[in-house]
Amino acid sequence: MSSIKLRAVVALTGLALACAAHAQQAAAPKKAAAPPGKAAAESKSAITAEFDKFREVMEDASPAELFEAKGEELWKTRRGPKNASLEQCDLGLGPGVLKGAYVGMPRYFADADQVMDVERRIVHCMVTLQGYKAEDLAKNPFSSEASTPDPVSLVTYVAGQSRGMKIAIPQKHPREREAYNVGKAIFNYRAGAWDFSCASCHGEEGKRIRTQDLPNLSSKKEAIRAFQSWPGYRMTGGLMHTLQWRMNDCFRQQRFPEPGYASETIADLLTYMGVNANGHVYKGPGIKR
Ligand code: HEC
Repeated sequence: MSSIKLRAVVALTGLALACAAHAQQAAAPKKAAAPPGKAAAESKSAITAEFDKFREVMEDASPAELFEAKGEELWKTRRGPKNASLEQCDLGLGPGVLKGAYVGMPRYFADADQVMDVERRIVHCMVTLQGYKAEDLAKNPFSSEASTPDPVSLVTYVAGQSRGMKIAIPQKHPREREAYNVGKAIFNYRAGAWDFSCASCHGEEGKRIRTQDLPNLSSKKEAIRAFQSWPGYRMTGGLMHTLQWRMNDCFRQQRFPEPGYASETIADLLTYMGVNANGHVYKGPGIKR
C-alpha cells in the first residue's frame, strides 16, 4: 500500500473508531436528520445579499484590524520562557518574511517534517523560539468573551500581510500532495450519528441551512469561501476567529468528535480546500456573520 493510502486509512480508521464511540453515546437514531435541502433556483438568499452589502461597508473600518495590531505587537515583543520575539519565525519564505507567507500555506516544513497551516506553524514557533508549551496553548485555543488567545491575533496579523495577493498553496513536495489527498478523503468521509461528511453540507451548489448559504468547498469557484474573510471577526458574538475554530465548529455540526487543536487532520483539510482556492485574490482578514 502506498504511504498516502496508508495514512488516509490510518486517519480515517481513527475517525471511524472515535465516531463509533461517539455514535453509541449519542441518543439520536441514525439518519434522524436529513441533509440540508437544496435551495430554490437563485444561488444567494436575499438575506445573504443584504449581509454582503453590510459587510462591504463594515470592512472599510473592520474590527479585524484591531486584532492585526495586537498580533503585530505580540509578534515583535520578547515573550515566553525564552524571552524571544517571533521575528525569526520562518513561515515558509525565510525567517521573518511575512509578505505573501499566508497565501502560501499550508505547506511542508522540513524542520518540523510536517505540513503546517498558519496556526500550526505559529504555535510551532511559539514553542521552539519562545519556549511555550504546546499543551498549554491547546488548552483554550478559541476566542471567548473572556479573552482572545494570542495565536488568534498572531494569525490575523500574518494574514493581513498577504492582503491583495494571489492564493498559491504549493503542491510540489510529495507530502503536500499527500496532505491534499488525505484532506480530500476526510472531506468526503461519512460517519457519526448523522452519517454526515463535510461534503454532505459543502459538496453541492445551492445548499442552505436556515438563512446560511453553504459554499461548495469542493469546487474551484466556491472554495475561496474557505479562505476569503478568514480569519474573521464574527458579528454573532463579536469575536475574532481563525479557521481552526471554524473547523472545530463544523466537526461539531457534523456530530464528529472534536479534532485536536493545530492537528494534522486540520492541516490536511485546509490544504485540500486551500489548494482548491488557488488563483483567487485574498482580500485579508474580514468579517463573518
Ligand atoms: C451539518 C452541516 C455542516 C457540516 C457537516 C459541515 N459544515 Fe462547514 N459550515 C456549516 C455552516 C452552517 C457554516 C456557516 C455558514 C455561514 O456562516 O454562512 C459552515 C461554514 C464552513 C466554512 C466557512 C465558509 C465561509 O463562508 O466562511 C468552512 C471552511 C467549512 N464550513 C468547512 C467544513 C468542513 C471542512 C467540514 C467537515 C469537517 C464541514 N464544514 C462540515 C455547516 C456544515
